[in-house]
Amino acid sequence: MDDFSNVKAFAEKVNADIPELHAVILNAGLMNRGWSTTREGWEQTLQVNTISTTLLALLLLPKLLSSGGPKNPAHLNFISSGTARVVKPEKVRQFYDSPNALQAMSSEKAWLGGMGHYALSKLLLEYAMRHIATLPSVVSASGEPNVIVNSTCPGLCKTDLGRQYTDKSMLFRILAWIVGVLIIRSAEAGSRLYVSAITRGKASQGKMWKDDRYVDGGEMVESAQGKRFGEKVWKEMVDVMESIEPRIRPTLSES
Ligand SMILES: NC(=O)c1ccc[n+]([C@@H]2O[C@H](COP(=O)([O-])OP(=O)(O)OC[C@H]3O[C@@H](n4cnc5c(N)ncnc54)[C@H](OP(=O)(O)O)[C@@H]3O)[C@@H](O)[C@H]2O)c1
Repeated sequence: MDDFSNVKAFAEKVNADIPELHAVILNAGLMNRGWSTTREGWEQTLQVNTISTTLLALLLLPKLLSSGGPKNPAHLNFISSGTARVVKPEKVRQFYDSPNALQAMSSEKAWLGGMGHYALSKLLLEYAMRHIATLPSVVSASGEPNVIVNSTCPGLCKTDLGRQYTDKSMLFRILAWIVGVLIIRSAEAGSRLYVSAITRGKASQGKMWKDDRYVDGGEMVESAQGKRFGEKVWKEMVDVMESIEPRIRPTLSES
């Protein structure tokens, strides 16, 4: 997922080998400790968690559309994070008028720290998910979804997401153990939310599923300024993705 050619090759294989596709869960994600870039020059968290994930969704969308339809829609689920809901406007305000916000947010001077950039990557993913959920190809003229598009936050789960955070002090270990006992779920418990997300109906279109309920997207998704920023970022993402794979153009425009 940190190499666009791999994403394209994987999607091509799925599209060629699998006759019908009824559910896609886009799970890959990482939280980096420091700023680093991919071969293609993007900050790695933004490429893996946001751009590649969205590109893969768009490359698989035609197969989901042809496998389902309004009577029995297929499901497209983005594994997001509740951290997207708490990104503060002051963290991103400087990019509102940036000629290329996506690139600017990828630069070293924009690095918000591991957790900060992780949350930002998931916020941008929420923008993409919400836009894909309203594409003319995804929603029929009657308003019924041809594909149910939503996101999931699995909650705090015991996984390898923090794999780069290894040099922990004794105090950190004790605190982590207490938090672990009190609130961290097993990966299996988190994964059940993935499964329940892909059994949701049309009421879940464009929404985040968390703790067995829909939650709002937070200030940077729901406010007027957040929506404006989301529009801008989505347009930029579309330009980037079309330059990587022009064949996604019809998926973005056709009804
Ligand atoms: N754990 C939590 O508390 C939590 C909370 C909210 C959301 N999430 C989200 O849940 C999803 C799964 O994460 P996790 O918690 O299960 O963490 P994890 O154990 O680290 O799993 C991450 C998964 O993403 C894959 N991945 C990472 N970088 C990749 C890359 N460049 N290309 C392809 N695959 C890559 C990993 O593959 P490899 O193992 O092969 O590297 C692994 O399968 C992520 O999207 C994460 O943001 C997790």
